[in-house]
Amino acid sequence: MSALSEAIALKVHYAVGAPAWRSRAGPGRVVRAVDGVDLQIAAGETVALVGESGCGKSTLGRALLRLEEPTAGVVRFEERDLTTLSAEHLRQRRAAMRMVFQDPFSSLNPRMRIGEALAEPLLVHGLCNSRSARERVAEMLDVVGLDRRVAARYPHEFSGGQRQRVAIARAVIGNPRFVVADEPLSALDISVQAQILDLFADLKDRFALTYLFVSHDLAVVRHVADRVAVMYLGRIVEMGAAEDVFARPAHPYTQALLDAVPVPDPTRERARIIGRLQGELPSPMAPPSGCRFHPRCPRAMSICQRDDPSLLPVASGQAVACWLYAPEGGAPAAERTPVSLASP
Ligand SMILES: Nc1ncnc2c1ncn2[C@@H]1O[C@H](COP(=O)(O)OP(=O)(O)O)[C@@H](O)[C@H]1O
Ligand SMILES: [Mg+2]
Repeated sequence: MSALSEAIALKVHYAVGAPAWRSRAGPGRVVRAVDGVDLQIAAGETVALVGESGCGKSTLGRALLRLEEPTAGVVRFEERDLTTLSAEHLRQRRAAMRMVFQDPFSSLNPRMRIGEALAEPLLVHGLCNSRSARERVAEMLDVVGLDRRVAARYPHEFSGGQRQRVAIARAVIGNPRFVVADEPLSALDISVQAQILDLFADLKDRFALTYLFVSHDLAVVRHVADRVAVMYLGRIVEMGAAEDVFARPAHPYTQALLDAVPVPDPTRERARIIGRLQGELPSPMAPPSGCRFHPRCPRAMSICQRDDPSLLPVASGQAVACWLYAPEGGAPAAERTPVSLASP
């Protein structure tokens, strides 16, 4: 399988330096927002990226589109290394990789009519002349369920859900192949969320899109994802087919995240052993030693404080970075038996 979008050993660190005049206080500190991620997204897939706020999801999503400068590692799109692409070649690829943001208002220029905002990517990327751009805008408004006449209006005249339709139309109008949607439902009313989710599904079929769907809400992800990648403090700690991850979450972090999602299943209810996540996300400036989750993990063992587990396949199908599932030579067998939260 060749990946449409790919990250290899990707790191994105932010220097949050002390100002120069205070440099005696030592060098600036480093936020390890993405700290060693391998991820492949195949054409046509929807991969959901989940995890608590602050664990690096947005940074990873932006880095895949090369909107963020990698500190280390490689980002590829359609097998081209985006990190070494010239500015001109990168610009040519921009139309093929687009982003939808959480807040549809801030992603639309308040002084631009909807029609102009939608035509802009077509004109900027030289995909249309202005006449055919107008036609394409009208078609796109149909596709996202808005009246063609709204082209003459301004963003403030729209509800949140309508604005998000416009923002999605703007992302998709230039026929991208890859769309990163960063918490695209979080700013919307619950009643509108399902409609926008349907729109994402419809557009995916219509335009053969590939999605990275970023969300802190696993209930949302359940409906859209083919695969799920669970992120914790700059790393992917579990990744697999959505049905495997939801039915048999393997990493204690995934189990805790899922535990916070209401599930109408009494067996599952009774099987809960973890309860809600304890404590706060540690600072990505100073990640814990060993497994980064160990200070909050109800099943931490001594090895977890010492050694960093790699992401490896487990029996239930997904890949997990956790010593509970270490191959022979890792943790003692007695400590390795995974607990299934899903089976009664
Ligand atoms: N431009 C930036 N400069 C410094 N720190 C940043 C920047 N962007 C994000 N961060 C930090 O990186 C970490 C990961 O952030 P982010 O990728 O936004 O996580 P998420 O999307 O999962 O909430 C956080 O600690 C955040 O404060
Ligand atoms: Mg984010």
